[in-house]
Amino acid sequence: MKIIDTKLTAIYFSAADTTRKCVEEVSEGFGIELNKAINLADNFEVVLPDFSENDVVIIASPVYRGRLPLQVSNALQRLNGRNARAIAMVVYGNRDYDDALLEQTDILRSKSFRIVGQGAFIGQHSIFPKVGTSRPDTSDILQLREFGKECRKAIEADNESYALELPKGKRPYKKISGVPVHPKADESDCTRCGICVVKCPVGAIPQDRPFTTDNNVCISCGRCIFVCSNKARHYSGAAYSIIGTIFKAAFSKRKSPYWSVAKPSLISY
Ligand SMILES: Cc1cc2nc3c(=O)[nH]c(=O)nc-3n(C[C@H](O)[C@H](O)[C@H](O)COP(=O)(O)O)c2cc1C
Ligand code: SF4
Ligand code: SF4
Repeated sequence: MKIIDTKLTAIYFSAADTTRKCVEEVSEGFGIELNKAINLADNFEVVLPDFSENDVVIIASPVYRGRLPLQVSNALQRLNGRNARAIAMVVYGNRDYDDALLEQTDILRSKSFRIVGQGAFIGQHSIFPKVGTSRPDTSDILQLREFGKECRKAIEADNESYALELPKGKRPYKKISGVPVHPKADESDCTRCGICVVKCPVGAIPQDRPFTTDNNVCISCGRCIFVCSNKARHYSGAAYSIIGTIFKAAFSKRKSPYWSVAKPSLISY
């Protein structure tokens, strides 16, 4: 297929910005400007575009406890690929991506996408920033661009089979579970600007007391920390310090990105 005929769209969820950065590097490597970028963090219920076979769609999500965040998998279930090509990506915080990439590629295939490339890349851990600190870094960016470039080549080669190895992971996938820590602000640091109230993707921050958090609703995505220009919101408490120490000790060893691109020689499944 002539890449000139292609429209490149990105649909992703990025609360703390690392997934967005990874998507932009892949599109840079692919060599076409994004026609449209939809961050599901702005609205999980957004109307998703219709695709056709000349479209290429980068679909990306952070890994939450080895799975896709539930709201992301629900949104992806509303897609209709109509034979468009998909570049499937997950971004994880240097612990593990477990079943998340398998889950994502399973959904995309069931929604009639032809997956040309799949990858699991590393971003700074949005709850424990001492793990995966400052990633994606220069070496990750090179890999992300290479991945985008190779996806483009696979499309240009018009590989009929679009055969890809199965990503790691198990079916049934790991049970979905939340994390027991949630950010909040000190009342004295909060100017009540309301930005976090508007930006929280699940409405967990009450308008009248924006320094608090409804822990029953919060998905610990970290977006409120990222958008608060006063740096008022943060994780705190004994549980957070203990889990943070364990995480740093267990998951600081650098992990490398995994990616794979469709090749005609592989057996299709
Ligand atoms: C609730 C939650 C669960 C997470 N679970 C995992 C995990 O299972 N494995 C991992 O390596 N990183 C995990 N992370 C880290 C994120 O996957 C990582 O920081 C990602 O880059 C966040 O993307 P974003 O910056 O685009 O929001 C988790 C983060 C959150 C908020
Ligand atoms: S963004 Fe920060 S300063 Fe503004 S309401 Fe939220 S916590 Fe307060
Ligand atoms: S309150 Fe929870 S769900 Fe809302 S933005 Fe903050 S971390 Fe995310």
